[in-house]
Amino acid sequence: MSLTTVAGDLIFLLLLFSSGAVGIGFSLEDEKAQIDRFQQYLRIQTAHPNPDYAGAVSFLSSQARSIGLKILTLEFTPGKPLLLLSWAGTDPSLPSILLNSHLDSVPADSSHWIHPPFSAYRDSDGRIFARGAQDDKSIAIQYLEALRNLKGRGFSPLRSIHVSLVPDEEIGGADGNEKFVASQEFRMLNVGFVLDEGQASPTDEFRVFYADRLPWSLIVNAVGAPGHGSKMYDGSAAENLMECVEAIVRFRDSQFDLVKAGIRAGSEVISVNPVYLKAGTPTPTGFVMNVQPSEAEAGFDVRLPPTESIDVLRKRINEEWAPISRNMTYQLTQKGPSRDVTGRPLVTPTNASNPWWSVFKQAISASGGKLGKPEILSSTTDARFMRQMGIPTLGFSPMANTPVLLHDHNEFLKDTVFLNGIKVYENLISALSSFHSDVGV
Ligand SMILES: *[C@@H]1O[C@H](CO)[C@@H](O)[C@H](O)[C@H]1NC(C)=O
Ligand SMILES: *[C@@H]1O[C@H](CO)[C@@H](O)[C@H](O)[C@H]1NC(C)=O
Ligand SMILES: [Zn+2]
Repeated sequence: MSLTTVAGDLIFLLLLFSSGAVGIGFSLEDEKAQIDRFQQYLRIQTAHPNPDYAGAVSFLSSQARSIGLKILTLEFTPGKPLLLLSWAGTDPSLPSILLNSHLDSVPADSSHWIHPPFSAYRDSDGRIFARGAQDDKSIAIQYLEALRNLKGRGFSPLRSIHVSLVPDEEIGGADGNEKFVASQEFRMLNVGFVLDEGQASPTDEFRVFYADRLPWSLIVNAVGAPGHGSKMYDGSAAENLMECVEAIVRFRDSQFDLVKAGIRAGSEVISVNPVYLKAGTPTPTGFVMNVQPSEAEAGFDVRLPPTESIDVLRKRINEEWAPISRNMTYQLTQKGPSRDVTGRPLVTPTNASNPWWSVFKQAISASGGKLGKPEILSSTTDARFMRQMGIPTLGFSPMANTPVLLHDHNEFLKDTVFLNGIKVYENLISALSSFHSDVGV
C-alpha cells in the first residue's frame, strides 16, 4: 500500500464518520461496500456508440445472484440484452412493481473532465465522478442495494417486484424498452406501477416527473418565383420562408417569455426551435449569389406538453406559420403516440385519482425527504413507453442538493446523496410492494 492510498483511506474513513453522523444509518463497512459496488458499475464503459452491454449485464447479474433475485436475460435485438430481475410477492396475482433503469450512457469527451469519465474517482468532498453517475447508473445500484437490505431484514413483499435494466434509452429506445413493453414477457409481469429515472435537484426537494413532452418534427417548404438577385419583388421562396421563420420566432418568444417571467416551467410550454435551413442554388464551391431560388425549406424541433392540443397547433401552422396563400406547405410528424392504449393522454395523474401517487408521496415523507411540485420532463425517457401501455409511471431519481449534470462534463454524484437514495428506495419499495388496494390496481 502506498502512502497516497493510506492518505486516501484516512480521508475515506473521515468521510464515513461524518456521513454516519448525519444519520444515514448504515454501518461503515456497509457504506464502503455500497459505494464500492456503485464505483464498479460506473467503471464499465457503457457509453455510445459501443456500450459494453455484456459487461454491464454480467456485473448486474452477479449482484442479483448475491441478493437472491430471479434473473432473466432477454434479447429482443441481437447484442442488446435486457436484464430482468424479480422478487416474487406473496400474492403474485396482484399487479407488480417495476423499477426501470437504462444500461447505456451518452459519450463523454475526457478532455473536458477533471477526472476520467469512467474512473469513478471519489474526491475529498465525496463526489464520485463518472459518466452515468446521475444518468442513470446510480438508480440501478440504489434499487439493488435497497432490495439487498430489505432481503437482509427479512422483508417479504406482497406484490412482486421487478427491476428492468434496458439497453438503448439514450438513442431512442426502439431496440430496448419499446420492444420490451410490446413483449409477451412484459405482459406476463402484470405491471401496476413503474418508477423510472428522474433528474437531480439543486434544492433540498426531490423532483418527480409525471409526463414527458411529446416530440414532433415540423418541415416547412416554400416555393416562389425565381429571379435575378438584384430584383426586388414579392413572393420569392426565400421571402415566403422568412415570413414563416418570423412568425415562429414571435411565437417562440411568447412561450419563452412565460418561462423567463417564471409563469411556466420550461417543460410546460411549447418549444419550437429551428434545426436546419435549406435553400440556394449550389455551385461546386458554394452558392450562386445572383439568383433568388424557387424553393426553400426549414426544419423545426417541436415539443408539446401532453396537456396542449395538437389541433390548436395545426391551426396556427395553417393560418400563421405556413399559410398556403404564401406558397407554403408543411409536414408535421409525430415521433410517437400522444395517447395511451386506452385513449387517455400520456400523463400519470398526481392527485387522488391515482392511489399509487399517495403511496409514493407518503413513502418519500417517511424517509425524511421533501418533494417538489410534480413536473413535466422537457425531453423524453423510456417512461413514455410504459405510459403508452396505460401504466402509471413516475420519473424519480433521489438526488437532492445536486447540480443537474446529466449529459454534461464532470457528471458526479456525492457519496452521501447516493447512500441516502438507497434508504429512500427501501421506503418506497417496501411501501409500494405492500400496498393493498380495494380499487383494483
Ligand atoms: C407562388 O409561387 C408562384 C410560382 O411558384 C409565383 O408565381 C407566385 O407569385 C407565388 N405567390 C406567392 C404569394 O408567393
Ligand atoms: C387528476 O389528474 C388528472 C390528470 O392530470 C385529471 O384528468 C383529473 O381530472 C384529476 N382528478 C381529480 C380527482 O382531481
Ligand atoms: Zn437517462
